[in-house]
Amino acid sequence: MLEYVEGQARKMGQLYGYKEIITPLVESYELLAAKAGEEVRLRMYAFEDLGRRMIALRPEFTPSVARVVATTFKNEPRPFRLFCIGSLYRYDEPQQGRYREFWQSNFELMGSNKPEADAEIITLTNDLMKAVGLKNYVFRVGHVGVLRGILSEDKVDDKAQNSVLQLMDKKQYEEALKLAEDSGASQESMAVLRDLVDMKSLKVMETVENMRERIKGYETAVKAAENLDEILRLVLESGCKIDMNVDACLARGLQYYTGMVFEVNVPELEVALGGGGRYDRLIELFGGEPTPAVGIAHGLDRIMLAMQKQKTGLKEDDEKKVMIIPITGEFVAKALEISRMLRDAGISVEVEVMRRKVGKALEDADRREMNYAIMVGEKELKEGSVVLRDLKKREQKILKIESLAKTLIT
Ligand code: HAM
Repeated sequence: MLEYVEGQARKMGQLYGYKEIITPLVESYELLAAKAGEEVRLRMYAFEDLGRRMIALRPEFTPSVARVVATTFKNEPRPFRLFCIGSLYRYDEPQQGRYREFWQSNFELMGSNKPEADAEIITLTNDLMKAVGLKNYVFRVGHVGVLRGILSEDKVDDKAQNSVLQLMDKKQYEEALKLAEDSGASQESMAVLRDLVDMKSLKVMETVENMRERIKGYETAVKAAENLDEILRLVLESGCKIDMNVDACLARGLQYYTGMVFEVNVPELEVALGGGGRYDRLIELFGGEPTPAVGIAHGLDRIMLAMQKQKTGLKEDDEKKVMIIPITGEFVAKALEISRMLRDAGISVEVEVMRRKVGKALEDADRREMNYAIMVGEKELKEGSVVLRDLKKREQKILKIESLAKTLIT
C-alpha cells in the first residue's frame, strides 16, 4: 500500500512538473535545528559522530532541500520545483498515526512569492488526496503574518512570538493569550487576539473578510490577510473542488513559516494528513540568495491509515501477471527462454523456481493473484506450443510460443 501511495505522489510530481531529489538521511544537527521550532528540535534523534560533529536523523525534508537550493542548485533558473519521498525520524510517543519512523512525500516550489505558487501547493495536495480515493478531507488554512503582525505592532519580541504561536498550534489558546499579554501585548491587541481565537468559521471568503475587518489598523497583519484572500480566491477560481476552513490561529509547529500555512485533516483521525506553508527566509539563512518558497509534506502513513478507515479500495492495477511453470526439470531452460521473450515484450513474468509439481505451483500462482500460468511440457513443445491457463476464468488452451506475447497483451 505504501508503494501505491508513493506512486500516486510521484504521479503528482510528474503532473505538476516537480523533479525528484534524494537528500541524506543524516544531516548536520545545526542545519536541521536552525528553524525547526521546539516541537521538532526536541524530538530529533541527535548524536555525535566519530569526527565529533553533531548530526541527526532527518525529522523533515525542508531544511535539506533549502540547503541544496542554496548551494548545488543556486544557479538553476527559478521557479524551481522539487520533491522527495522517504522516511523520517522523530522521537514521538508512538500512538495511532504517530510513529518514530514515518514517511512523507514533500513538495517544494522555490523562487516565487506570488499567491499562485501557494495556490499550486494547495491544489496539488487536494489532487493527491483525491487520487488516493479519500473523502471528506478538510483543509485548515491560515497565515502566520496575522498573529505576528499584531504582536510586532506591540513590540513583542520574536522569541515570545514563537512561543505564542507554538501554544496556539497546540490549541492551548488561554496559555497563548496569557503569554502574549505578559510579553507586552496591549489591551486593545488582546481583545483582537481573543476575537480571532473565537472567530467562527463561515464560508471561506467571508471568514477572511471578517478577519480583515477585525485587524484593521495593524498594517502588516492586514497585508497578510489580503495575501491569504488572494491565495484562497485563486484556489476557488481555478475550479478546484475543495473543502476549506480559515483559521487565523493556525500556527504550525515549525518556526520557518513566514506566510500562508495549512493542514489537511479527515474526520476519522485526530492527527493531520499533511501540512505546509510559505517560508521566504530559510534559503538565505543557509547562505543562498534570498529565495521565496512554499511547500507541503504529506504524511504517507497517515494517508494509508485514513484510506483503511474510509475503506478506500486501491485502484486495480491492470498489468497482467504471468507465472511460467516447467512441468519437469528438463524444461527449465525453455521456461527461462520463454520468460525472457515475454519480458522483452513488456509482460511481467515469474518463473516457478521451486520445481514444484504443477498442481502445487498453480495453487501458489492463484494465492498470489497471478492472471495466467504457462505450462511448459514435452507433449506441446513437440509442436512448438505450451499450455496457457487463464487463472481467473479457469480456462486453458494450447498456443504456439511465438503467439504468446500477442495473446497476453491484447
Ligand atoms: P510537519 O507538519 O511537521 O511538516 O509534517 C508533515 C506531515 O508529516 C504531518 O502532517 C503528518 O502527516 C506527517 N508526520 C509528522 N510527524 C509524524 C509522525 N511522528 N508519525 C507519522 N506521521 C507524521 C513538515 O514536515 C514540513 N517540512 C512541511 C513543509 C514542507 N513545509 C514546507 N515545505
